[in-house]
Amino acid sequence: MKKRILVVGSLNMDMVIEMKSMPLIGETVLGDTLKYVPGGKGGNQAYAVGSLGGEASLLGCVGADAFGSRLVENIRACKVDVSAVDVDEEEPTGTAVIYVDEEGNNSIVVAPGANSSCNVELLQKKDELFQMNDFMLFQMEIPLEAVFYGIRKAKEYEKTVILNPAPAPEDIPDDIWERIDYLTPNETEVLKLCGEPGTSMEHIKKSAKRILAKGVKNVIVTLGDKGVFFVNNNEEHLFEARKVDAIDTTAAGDCFNGAFAVGLSKGMTVCEAIGFANVASSVAVQRKGAQSSIPKWEEVESVWKESFLTQTSGQMSMM
Ligand code: RIB
Repeated sequence: MKKRILVVGSLNMDMVIEMKSMPLIGETVLGDTLKYVPGGKGGNQAYAVGSLGGEASLLGCVGADAFGSRLVENIRACKVDVSAVDVDEEEPTGTAVIYVDEEGNNSIVVAPGANSSCNVELLQKKDELFQMNDFMLFQMEIPLEAVFYGIRKAKEYEKTVILNPAPAPEDIPDDIWERIDYLTPNETEVLKLCGEPGTSMEHIKKSAKRILAKGVKNVIVTLGDKGVFFVNNNEEHLFEARKVDAIDTTAAGDCFNGAFAVGLSKGMTVCEAIGFANVASSVAVQRKGAQSSIPKWEEVESVWKESFLTQTSGQMSMM
């Protein structure tokens, strides 16, 4: 039976400006027209779960304003249960200012607003969601105490925890590491979490293994066009990225995480779920925006099956 996914995290209205190249400090550049796109790592991951055929509930918080209702409606439209998205009467909905350059790279600043009210108290009020769902998917754009509380609670109920450490915090409490079943940093985040000085693939692998030694069960590092590195105590694999023309990488990681959770919830093995998520995010980077870039299950399924067969017949590097 398909299992349920609880996504706990942020909702932001993204204010996106495309430009030729990012401004340097002190520089003014002219960009394209400002666009408003539904985003926020929690919202994006829940949207990805719904869009890719998973069953999800979203726990988060928006302000009592037009951005907040638009964000909630967008996620509801892809069949995610949004009844646990709270409305904060005091704070505005979270916003993110996103610059995208002509190479598709982005740079993001988030003003959390109502996301700050997705706190321990709110999670305590919604305790039944931790009991009725099977997989718990967290990121780090809400108060960190709430993330750590949620992880402890999830494990108390013997649920599977996926933590996407984005943005990467300065520190993670000792008892949290061993409660994480799947940690999904990108290459910058894995290095920050371990304080590794270099940025080569060797540094990335070393960092991932240092995280394993802290008690995390599986570390899955998303590496953009270099693919995905997966390691646990029994195996390690480097999955190649699909070769595509990326125009905007915003929310590619969110799409990966949502898709990965859907894969597990449908009974895929970890490697199958990574392969599926890899394909889903390769579709997302060919489209603009956050939730606007996330594909549907039908769009990913056929490419994934084809690419999985290719990978298992030799292209996936086994180390
Ligand atoms: O991961 C992309 C997201 O990061 C954007 O949608 C933005 O809102 C920030 O949360």
